[in-house]
Amino acid sequence: MPLVAVIMGSKSDWKTMRQAAELLEEFGVAHECRVLSAHRTPAETAEYAGQAESRGIEVVIAAAGGAAHLAGVCAAHTLLPVLGVPMESASLKGLDSLLSTVQMPAGIPVGALGIGGAGARNAALLAIAILANSRPELRERLRQFRAKQSEKVLRETLP
Ligand code: RP5
Repeated sequence: MPLVAVIMGSKSDWKTMRQAAELLEEFGVAHECRVLSAHRTPAETAEYAGQAESRGIEVVIAAAGGAAHLAGVCAAHTLLPVLGVPMESASLKGLDSLLSTVQMPAGIPVGALGIGGAGARNAALLAIAILANSRPELRERLRQFRAKQSEKVLRETLP
């Protein structure tokens, strides 16, 4: 049963969002990925977000580009934590997506990450950290991930 839902506004977002899915896979976190658009499939998006909690989902990661309202729309239909990932857009390099995702009016929060691949990876790591609060084994995997990352940086040599 998936614990994390990774949804994105378009198949064109997958090249970025696959990085989130790969990290969840690496940590052994059950997840599902699908395309759902706040404006192209509004009814299905509302239905999916509304049913996510009862299906056992604990965290939603929602990625969208442009006037990116997917994360906010999802958050409006669920009490689950929603992490928003702004996609890099062709016209404004993702600044439009970032502002649309991060500037939620008070009352319906979206945890907004950075634009693009870094945001996708960090959304997965944040979802893992949320799940790890009640899962000691996952917390240990996260600790090891951080330790490995630090070791790699400390091993770097410069020309
Ligand atoms: C958004 O519009 C999607 O999240 C995507 O980032 C952007 C462009 O979508 P496509 O025109 O590539 O399908 O809804």
